[in-house]
Amino acid sequence: MSTGRNGQYGSQAAANAAATIRNRIGTEQPVVGIVLGSGLAGLADRFENVRRVEYRDIPGFPVPTVVGHPGVLVAGTLAGRHAVALAGRFHMYEGHDAALAGFPARVFAALGADVLFVSNAAGGIRRTFRPGDLMVIADHVNLTGRNPLLGPVEAGDLRFPDMSEPYDADLRATLHRAGKRTGVVLVEGVYGWALGPSYETPTEVRMFERLGVDAVGMSTVPEVIAARAIGMRVAGVSCVTNLACGITTNTPLDHKEVLAVAKQAAGRFESLVLEWVRDLA
Ligand code: HPA
Repeated sequence: MSTGRNGQYGSQAAANAAATIRNRIGTEQPVVGIVLGSGLAGLADRFENVRRVEYRDIPGFPVPTVVGHPGVLVAGTLAGRHAVALAGRFHMYEGHDAALAGFPARVFAALGADVLFVSNAAGGIRRTFRPGDLMVIADHVNLTGRNPLLGPVEAGDLRFPDMSEPYDADLRATLHRAGKRTGVVLVEGVYGWALGPSYETPTEVRMFERLGVDAVGMSTVPEVIAARAIGMRVAGVSCVTNLACGITTNTPLDHKEVLAVAKQAAGRFESLVLEWVRDLA
């Protein structure tokens, strides 16, 4: 066993967390583990046969400190399929280690899920984006230099995970089909992970634009990297809650606005994910 932080939030810790969760939700294997981003936790209310576990009751889970991240694991059925979701995530800007930010992927895998679905609120950089747009994540740029796999290699991990297709092409195609069926308009783009918690400066945003980033946020990438290291397939959606700083105007950004726009988009987001889960192999 490794002794680094990656060890602290590695496969053994995930097995411990999963054992506690299973005691509360039963042993049904979820087809997907879902991480709900800022303002998108309403999907948790769309579960049927629902069981809830507070983070404070799960070993290794800290209690979220961010408004809009409730701190509860929800299990049950979505569109008749077994699923589990986290309403509340662990961000590095809260002072957490990258390995903890990636820990939910390991816990989902320990519960038996082969697929990770990530969601987030993000600032739109692509000039055609408007607040409320939903973006299927096609790829990401890690702008932080941090990585959840730093440290001794975990049992069951790849030391050097391939990242040629972090977001699975079939799962993305399934999302687009779900979008067509539900009438939810989707765009595809590249997500950039900035550490935060300060929002970006206008010049940083212009730099990210030149790097090929379409939307910027402070999360998601640690979970995706951890998931790829253990062989999970990944899909994700960003809700563009605002235009990133300096895109069209320098209006000050505010987390309240982020939450308000995410709430407006939540109905479309929930219809999309429900339809996507229905279609999961
Ligand atoms: N920047 C970073 N993170 C964000 C933003 C943003 O503009 N909007 C929502 N999350």
